[in-house]
Amino acid sequence: AAPWTVPMLRDAKHDGRRLAMLTCYDAGFARVADAAGIDLLLVGDSLGMVVQGQDSTLPVTVADIEYHTRCVARGAAQPLLVADMPFQSDASPGRALDAATRFLQAGAGMVKIEGAGHKLDVIRHLVEREIPVCGHLGLTPQSVLRLGGYKVQGRDEAAARRLRDDAIAVAEAGAELLVLECVPTPVAEAITAELSIPTIGIGAGPHCDGQVLVLHDMLGLASGHRRPKFVKDFLGEGGSVQGAMEAFAAAVREGAFPDAGHSYA
Ligand code: KIV
Ligand code: NA
Repeated sequence: AAPWTVPMLRDAKHDGRRLAMLTCYDAGFARVADAAGIDLLLVGDSLGMVVQGQDSTLPVTVADIEYHTRCVARGAAQPLLVADMPFQSDASPGRALDAATRFLQAGAGMVKIEGAGHKLDVIRHLVEREIPVCGHLGLTPQSVLRLGGYKVQGRDEAAARRLRDDAIAVAEAGAELLVLECVPTPVAEAITAELSIPTIGIGAGPHCDGQVLVLHDMLGLASGHRRPKFVKDFLGEGGSVQGAMEAFAAAVREGAFPDAGHSYA
């Protein structure tokens, strides 16, 4: 198959082809994910937790993401590589442009930005300068201090409406992909129906255009941090790391993952 490009994302949504995305932090796992047919790899700031052993994503730096992006880029040829903008690296358009440029020069094809509000200006600033952007709404882990913990977002009607308005604004600002984290199934379904860019769910029900999981979680390795309801260990049924990734990708493409037991009604 041809390597993934940004324009292929909208085509996949148009064709009803669901996207399988995993986080990845090094070349070894990137090679396996590539062989398993994973569509997108995210160098997530979750590396603060699963690689560095920190309590949150806040300590992760631009240099950390740049280093891991370089590592993953050496291992993966087919998947589209998305690099997370770490805490406050996207606080202003100028800072964001500097960090995102480093990530694209390290091999990423897109950067991910949490939130809407003042981040809409940042998204526009990057997109106008030829840097593809993935949005991230719902539970945004960089907001953990304000939120007071990792909780499902958009539960009441007003919050669901705000989430929908933010999703439309992020897409209109030029994002080509949108992660929805810890959002009730019907809210993510409505946003997915409304947008022409693909949505990627994590704890957002089965109606998103794709799904993402943290690599360590789907391999049953993340005993040190919270294990939310949406996490599924695919290693048992897959029998190997590559088998687990193939089982995840197949379940996403068939619409079998997540089921109701791994979603928030
Ligand atoms: O950092 C990360 O792993 C993420 C995903 C959970 C979407 O942002
Ligand atoms: Na992240």
